[in-house]
Order: sequence, then structure tokens, then C-alpha cells
Amino acid sequence: MKTVIYNIGTLAGILPSDVRKLEGSQMNTVECIENAYLVIEDGVITEFGQNNGGCIGIQNNPSHDFVADPLAAKVHRTFGQSLASPCGQGGSTVLNTDTTTDIEFIDAKGGFVMPAFCDSHTHIVYAGCRDGEFRDKIAGLSYEEIAARGGGILNSADLLHNTSEDELYEQSMVRVREIMAMGTGAAEIKSGYGLTVEDELKMLRVIKRIKETAPLTVKANFLGAHAVGRAYKGRQSEYVDLVCNEMLPAVAAEGLADYVDVFCDAGFFTVEDTDKILSKAAEYGITPKIHANELEVSGGVQVGVKHRALSVDHLEKTTDAEIEALRGSGTMPTMLPGCSFFLGIPYGNAKGYIEAGLPVALASDYNPGSSPSGNMRFVMALGCIRMRLTPEQSFNACTINTAYAMGVSDQLGSITVGKKANLIVTKPVPSLAFIPYSHQTPVIDRVILGGITI
Ligand code: NIG
Ligand code: FE
Repeated sequence: MKTVIYNIGTLAGILPSDVRKLEGSQMNTVECIENAYLVIEDGVITEFGQNNGGCIGIQNNPSHDFVADPLAAKVHRTFGQSLASPCGQGGSTVLNTDTTTDIEFIDAKGGFVMPAFCDSHTHIVYAGCRDGEFRDKIAGLSYEEIAARGGGILNSADLLHNTSEDELYEQSMVRVREIMAMGTGAAEIKSGYGLTVEDELKMLRVIKRIKETAPLTVKANFLGAHAVGRAYKGRQSEYVDLVCNEMLPAVAAEGLADYVDVFCDAGFFTVEDTDKILSKAAEYGITPKIHANELEVSGGVQVGVKHRALSVDHLEKTTDAEIEALRGSGTMPTMLPGCSFFLGIPYGNAKGYIEAGLPVALASDYNPGSSPSGNMRFVMALGCIRMRLTPEQSFNACTINTAYAMGVSDQLGSITVGKKANLIVTKPVPSLAFIPYSHQTPVIDRVILGGITI
């Protein structure tokens, strides 16, 4: 199957195939082609370039027996003997085609085409919601106070315990469909609302099912150490032993986790707990991505770097020591502005990190307690509005750098020949800046995942 997207006003986010992440001043630029076309074959980007003269010519003389669908603004054509193009004869861009291929033409109508967002930090598998705590929050209780009352993550664990695996899958797929429609083409999804061996496995099996059934790319992250399970109240070290000696072996035996996570922060897990869990995970070859420095400067960044974490996430609280620890580490500092927005806590110092020459990724943290939204365009907007990133920096933070932070930047996160065709097509917009600037305007016209419009 071949797809040609033509009449692209701006093709944005082009990178060479060997780029895995952008750091420091590299984040200041988004490579674009104006007036472009892009070709997809079998779900992969195979060609793109400038559409000289605004028309695309097709080699090998196709017949004229195509069927136009004005509503979908696309043209299906089977190739035969003569020459035609989507905008008439004489197209000056020549695409190589064979004579038998069925081609779908998509008219981008002058809009942007950009890589779909990669969301490298989500908790979208959960049961029910926590709208009651929303009232507590409005009344003035902090995230820590709600958790200390036995609410928060434990509240979600109770709900999940009473939800069947099938029902959990259905509820989660509603959110998966929601984020795909908003332009997310890849998501890392964490467990961590189980907090018992059985319920953690239930969550991870649901994540596996999403991976197998949804068109977006999914990575699974085992977060048994999200909170101490209710049955272990006051016995944190025994709970850590449960994570190490029962949960991790069971998760590894079923091959359910791409990554392992620990909530290393004040009131949750210590650096020592984290070290122990990550050491055990290393025995199973599972790479960490951890929660650090949301509530306090926790030491989580340093222990993450020590264990070669792919990313350390949150970082609302940062000192120069974290920046120094991350330098040259290969660990992606990932900030979650949706969480800062919802909880009313400080935003991560993304600008400072970039000025220090580091990369920064921005993810949604979609979860029922601290960020009940998976809208990556809003994350991109918060990156600009509240973290003072330029639109280009924020764009790179939500695409190639989040792709790196979930281990898929060899396949996703940019417009690159050979990468999976996960794309957003926008309505005509005046500039890249317009996308975060006009953040509630519905500019997304079409989302293409693996070459297929969803
Ligand atoms: O990333 N900080 C820890 N975990 C989630 C919140 C989970 C919850 O409150 O349900 C986060 O913000
Ligand atoms: Fe999180």
C-alpha cells in the first residue's frame, strides 16, 4: 500500500536518520520544507521533498480511472497506461511507482505535516477516576496531604482491584483513542495502580493487550514501587522486598515490562529502596525510567543516572547537582508540565537545562491524580507559555526527545526516510508557533499512524 500526501504547506520536523535526540542549542531548530509532498509505503516514510510547481507527477503512466472522494479529499487510483497527477498534467515532482500499486492520495490542503507526538510518560491504564479528590484539591489539600489520608494512588489501587481485566482494557482504550485523536502516535504506559502481584500483572497484561490491538506504539513500564500497597502499611521495606522478589520475577517471566520505574520522592520511596529495585531489575535486563524530584530534591536523578536510566521524569525540584549528574549521561531529563499545571506546583527548569547543553523531553503524565489529560499539544503549549521554551524547543521536546525517552527514536519522532509514518496533518496554520499559541483551536485535521488515517 502506498500513500502520497501532497499539497503540504510545511513539512516540519525533518531529521537525519542517525539523530536519536537533540540537546542544548540543537533544540532551537525545526527543519522544514515548504510546499512539500511525502510518500508512505507499507506504513513507513519512503520519500519526501519539495513539490516544485505545486503538482506531483507520477511515473509509469497511470490510467485515468481513479475515483475521487470529495468528502475525504482523497483519490484512489489503479495504475495503467497514461499520465495523470492529483493536480492535473505536468507535475514537476516525479515519484517512482510501479504499475500495479494501489495509491491513496491525501490532499494536505496547505496544512502542516509533522511527526505525531511521542508521549514517554503516561499512566493511562487506570480504573474509574478521582474526581472526588479534585474537590479536595480545590478546597486546598496538597497532593501529599491527599495521599497521606489514604487517598491518591491507593484510591486508584482500590478501584483497579475491583475492576476486571476486560473492563480495565475497555476503560483504558477510551483514553488510548482519545490521545491518538489528539495526535499521539506512541505512548509509554506504566503499571503502579495494582500494588499486589496479581493486580500489577493485571495492569501489565492490559498494557500488552493495548500494544497488540491499538495502532499506536506502546512501551510498558513496571511501576510496582508507585506507593506502598495497603496491606503493607508501615512495612515499606517488606513491600520493597515484595517488588524485588515476587513482582519483578513474575513480570519478567511473562515478558511484560520494557522498563522499570520507582516513585523516588518524599513520602514515597527512598534512594536506597530505588537502588535496590533497580539493581534487581538489572538482573532481568530491564532498563529504568524513574519518577524523581517532583515533591522534593530526592536524590532520584543521581540514582537513576547511576543505573543508566533511559529517563528521569518530573524534575519540578532541581539544583545544579542534578544538571551536573545528567551531563553526558545518556539519561533524558523529562518534565511534565501538565502535572505542574494541575497540582499548582513549580514547572521544571527546562530552559536552564537546555542552556546547560542538556536535552529536555516533555510528556503528559496522563493519570487520574496529578495530570488528568493526555493532550500533548497542550503540553507543548505549556512548554512555551509556562516554561518559556521557544515553539521549536517545545516541538523537539515533544517529538524526537520523547521518542528517545521511550526507546523508539530510531523508528519515530521525526520526518525521516525509514521511520514509521506516524504523522499529524493540520489545517492551514500560519506558522509552527501558531500550534502552541492557539492551543485550544482544533487545528488537527488528520492523524496518520503506521500510514493509516485513524
Ligand atoms: O507521575 N508522581 C507519581 N505518580 C503520578 C501520579 C499518580 C497518581 O496520583 O495517580 C505522577 O504524577
Ligand atoms: Fe507519573
